[in-house]
Amino acid sequence: MKALEGVRILDMTHVQSGPTCTQLLAWFGADVIKVERPGTGDPTRGQLRDIPDVDSLYFTMLNHNKRSITLNTKHETGKEIFTRLIEECDVLVENFAPGALDRMGFSWERIQEINPRIISASIKGFGPGPYEDLKVYENVAQCAGGAASTTGFDDGPPTVTGAQIGDSGTGLHLATGILAALLHREKSGKGQRVECAMQDGVLNLCRVKLRDQQRLAHGPLTEYPQYPNGTFGEAVPRGGNASGGGQPGWVVKCKGWETDPNAYIYVITQAAAFAGLAKVMGKEEWLEDPEWNTPAARLPKLEKMFEEIENWTKTLTKFEVMEKLNPVNVPCGPILSMKEVAEEPALRKTGTVVEVDHPERGKYLTVGNPIKLSDSPAEVKRSPLLGEHTDEILKEVIGFNEDQIAAAKDAGAV
Ligand SMILES: CC(C)(COP(=O)(O)OP(=O)(O)OC[C@H]1O[C@@H](n2cnc3c(N)ncnc32)[C@H](O)[C@@H]1OP(=O)(O)O)[C@@H](O)C(=O)NCCC(=O)NCCS
Repeated sequence: MKALEGVRILDMTHVQSGPTCTQLLAWFGADVIKVERPGTGDPTRGQLRDIPDVDSLYFTMLNHNKRSITLNTKHETGKEIFTRLIEECDVLVENFAPGALDRMGFSWERIQEINPRIISASIKGFGPGPYEDLKVYENVAQCAGGAASTTGFDDGPPTVTGAQIGDSGTGLHLATGILAALLHREKSGKGQRVECAMQDGVLNLCRVKLRDQQRLAHGPLTEYPQYPNGTFGEAVPRGGNASGGGQPGWVVKCKGWETDPNAYIYVITQAAAFAGLAKVMGKEEWLEDPEWNTPAARLPKLEKMFEEIENWTKTLTKFEVMEKLNPVNVPCGPILSMKEVAEEPALRKTGTVVEVDHPERGKYLTVGNPIKLSDSPAEVKRSPLLGEHTDEILKEVIGFNEDQIAAAKDAGAV
């Protein structure tokens, strides 16, 4: 049995943040009804298209296992249908611009009036405060949440990360809140509001940087590349590839780096594994030398140490380095390209990378559910075509007959 079987989600989400949340709930087994504007639907259907007139990968990869109904929620009949859907659903999820749902006539008070058991979950760019009315996309959140100012190198500009921590990250946060509210409803019988701001979600993921901001008041951040030769200002600097934890780490070149932009490996010089690392590299003398043989002695010369490590890693491929370091327990991570990730057999085997068939685009790759439940394995089903399930939802969920469906269509509500 699927973990969320019997839970019905009224999915008013679009673009990435909200759809990430509802896709996850769908993988857990919820019946996710995606409400889309007639004619256009979720704007990502048409964004960054690789094949003309076919739903984009942007859309298909964020909307698996959902059903789609087209519904104009600003139309009178559309509002009636929407009201019936609120009555029949357990959770409403939306990530419209601030105030959009109210402008449709569905404030939180009105939603509660229609269905006191419903959980109403929203993503906005910012929480209450000076920026609460702003529209926000991924990189705005990365910048406002502290990620960009702390990412990149000291001599370069603030940098956004490739991981969608603002959109997908906030979607995951929201899903956690919804699950908690569903459990709470078991006891209280009542729904509640779940809100997540993208700035807050990013900041939560940048927790260690706020830690460092406070450490800075007590002296330099010794694991950062600015120590001991550079300078620290008032705010946490960009740490380059320094590890965020207590164990020094850095990205070093491997064989082929001159032509392959991903011929690199991340090496962590954990104190407990340092002897093994020194031996593998042929640097046994470090173990006898007081200039090198303690973490405290190495700390002021991390740059020099990683240079030495790189002189060794440059003689081997990233996978050969891994083969040598793993047996001596040196944590390391080869820099895998997206091509390598897509082709990795182990990820295919676990269903983290899956091939899906789509009636209009054919086969494509996607990321499946990264959260594995032993009794409720996720089966990835293709995203719906626009309005593919309109009739079925009107019939099954709100009990419309053929005449009512035809009338709603004639009126332009669906
Ligand atoms: C993402 C975002 C910037 C997109 O902005 P946008 O393209 O202008 O879209 P909006 O959310 O403003 O919605 C546009 C309009 O479509 C309307 N609409 C959407 N679905 C509709 C439907 N089924 N029927 C009728 N109208 C609909 C909305 O009500 C809104 O109308 P209004 O401006 O008159 O209130 C904005 O939605 C936002 O800031 N969301 C919150 C933060 C977020 O999730 N950002 C990340 C997205 S990955």
